[in-house]
Amino acid sequence: MIKLVNVEKTYFSKAGNIEALKKTNIEVRQGEIFGIIGLSGAGKSTLIRCINMLEVPTGGQVFVDGQELTAMSEAQLRKARQNIGMIFQHFNLLASRTVFDNVAFPLEIQGMPKDKIAERVGELLDLVQLRDRADYYPSQLSGGQKQRVGIARALASNPKVLLSDEATSALDPQTTKSILQLLRDINKRLNLTIVMITHQMEVVKEICDRVAVIENGVIIEEGSMYKVFTEPQEETTKEFVKTVNDIKIPPMIDTESMKQNYFPGSRLLANLTFLDSGDRQEKSTGADQPLVSAIIKRFGVDVNIISGKVDYLKDLPYGTLLVEIMGDEKSIADSLRYIREAGVKLEVIGYVG
Ligand SMILES: Nc1ncnc2c1ncn2[C@@H]1O[C@H](COP(=O)(O)OP(=O)(O)OP(=O)(O)O)[C@@H](O)[C@H]1O
Ligand SMILES: [Mg+2]
Repeated sequence: MIKLVNVEKTYFSKAGNIEALKKTNIEVRQGEIFGIIGLSGAGKSTLIRCINMLEVPTGGQVFVDGQELTAMSEAQLRKARQNIGMIFQHFNLLASRTVFDNVAFPLEIQGMPKDKIAERVGELLDLVQLRDRADYYPSQLSGGQKQRVGIARALASNPKVLLSDEATSALDPQTTKSILQLLRDINKRLNLTIVMITHQMEVVKEICDRVAVIENGVIIEEGSMYKVFTEPQEETTKEFVKTVNDIKIPPMIDTESMKQNYFPGSRLLANLTFLDSGDRQEKSTGADQPLVSAIIKRFGVDVNIISGKVDYLKDLPYGTLLVEIMGDEKSIADSLRYIREAGVKLEVIGYVG
């Protein structure tokens, strides 16, 4: 649906040139929610604004729905942009217009007849559950409601693609969830392709099918959200994953004296991740495998479960278990091998006395 081929963007200025985007190649499939995550200044906004040509790339080609935007005249581009809606961090609503008139705005520009506009705006306000706020002004709305207006306006011309530039960054966690839920809902209902940029892993984890990680204008990692989340390769990606998946070691465990190797009388501290790999090739391990009792029986170790939880990556469950394994050196080594062979992701934290 969206294809970027060697897209580059350099900002030229007297103070110096900034290569905000280096040769970037991305393909976003029809109907998916594609996330782009990166730190501040990484080039996220530049990248997403190249997709609808709000920023004209200094090199490369942009294709949306089979059409090359980088080869179009201004007039052609205006038409093509009707296929691409966009929502923003600060909503960008017109303060002097009511909710109704904000959503009607792009339709007025298109020259749609008044009665048709009223009908369409009504539908859109129903979709975002704001019909009863039609006559309010933006200043009378909460952040979440403002973003709902932004979404309704972005969908007014029936776009095939929705671009979201940090649409939930100004919202509290609860409101963020409800906006993400709405985006998921319209993605499914309208088969809308969504590209969202964010610096929050929480957002990616909640709704993205695939994700790309951008750093200094370069895509450093890309793949299914599940894969990137459970097997991050790059340091930056690992840091992002940590923000939502950090292992909390309880204070009663003395980590000061922790060693990376076994010593007599030590206990192994390890984190196990049980993945329900869904459509992946490997055999599913499931979060319910009685692995702990198996290693106790087979290798005579003792296992102490410190904490555990089940979380979701979009719709796929994954479970984590923080455990202490006690036994002699060989029994622990055998247990670790057994756990790994069972396909459970094992992270050895260390040996404590
Ligand atoms: N109009 C501009 N003129 C000059 N430099 C710019 C312009 N817009 C962005 N830049 C620079 O390009 C780089 C990438 O900026 P961009 O806004 O794409 O980052 P971002 O990932 O969206 O950051 P944030 O998370 O803070 O929004 C930055 O170094 C920024 O200073
Ligand atoms: Mg930005």
